[in-house]
Amino acid sequence: MRKLVVGNWKMHGGLDANAALLGALREAGGQGCPSAVCVPFPYLQQAKSLLEGSAIAWGAQDLSEHAVGAYTGEVSGAMLNDFGCRYAIVGHSERRALFGDTDERVAAKVDAALAVKLQPILCVGETLDEREGGVTEAVVERQLKAVFERGGAAALAACVIAYEPVWAIGTGKTATPAQAQAVHAFIRGRLAAWCGADVAARTTILYGGSVKPQNAAELFGQADIDGGLIGGASLVAGDFLAIVAAAAS
Ligand code: 13P
Repeated sequence: MRKLVVGNWKMHGGLDANAALLGALREAGGQGCPSAVCVPFPYLQQAKSLLEGSAIAWGAQDLSEHAVGAYTGEVSGAMLNDFGCRYAIVGHSERRALFGDTDERVAAKVDAALAVKLQPILCVGETLDEREGGVTEAVVERQLKAVFERGGAAALAACVIAYEPVWAIGTGKTATPAQAQAVHAFIRGRLAAWCGADVAARTTILYGGSVKPQNAAELFGQADIDGGLIGGASLVAGDFLAIVAAAAS
């Protein structure tokens, strides 16, 4: 099953608000579609204790490319494993734009996640300038290729891919279903070329960027869109659950 919906809380939350949100998700169950929440590091223990045994998985929003050592402020994949994470988002555009995550570092982080059997959610996507400059496919290809060149077909094949056009993140400006589908089909084509048709067919490719209950069904109805990576709407239980339900149907 390729379907998946993941909430990316970003730097939001607090113990009380999280308890209410996680409790509501747990109570609603899986809604017939695999789902997960990627929470800030300090709340991983809370996610673990409130979601363990439920249909909802949890994960982190980043990890270090290093396994262990003198790296002040960093969090390793092994540490994420201690808190039962299934997923780690890697290469989110906010990390790329604001925190210096280059294509090469993102590829190293994918390797670091796989080394401890975490599933990377590898984010790719173009800025508005890049889209208007007609280089969307070249940018997405370059971002994917960095992972392929470092870790080979096995690394790329082990990722969930998330296409997140930077201009659609947090802006309320969603890519049209046709715009998103075109890039998703391109990504699946690259996977087929580098990793083989079987891998391409089974890889989950999520769309992210202003997904809301109102637009989720149409986006998820596209042939190559397998679900979503949800920012703002994942902070509201009813909205997140409605998006999960849209992916299930
Ligand atoms: P929004 O859903 O808030 O646009 O964020 C998308 C995103 O960046 C998910 O990783």
